[in-house]
Amino acid sequence: MSHSISTAEVPPGTVTGVDKYAVGDNGAYFAVSRKCRHLRADLAEGTVDADGCLVCPWHQAKYDVSTGRMVRGPQGIFAKIPGLGAGFRALTRVVPLRRGTVQKRGEILHID
Ligand code: FES
Repeated sequence: MSHSISTAEVPPGTVTGVDKYAVGDNGAYFAVSRKCRHLRADLAEGTVDADGCLVCPWHQAKYDVSTGRMVRGPQGIFAKIPGLGAGFRALTRVVPLRRGTVQKRGEILHID
């Protein structure tokens, strides 16, 4: 089932939630499943960084939205546990975030 949102609700460099997706604009519109692979934080509450990656609001794991893979593991207290970040990065090679398709029609984004 398709969901839609106005482009005005997704300004450049931001991310928001649409149904089960985190939908954002990092220069292009993207949609990825919104549960972080670490502890399931809502990635729709995250941020888009200067590299165009989606950053988790809880422990700042960072995802490449073009592949759904974690490119930096959890930070903060979790970064101090050797191998933990690497473990989650490896997990997302096998189980990346699901990627949705975004189609822009007029000023409306349709997400599937
Ligand atoms: S829940 Fe996303 S990095 Fe911890």
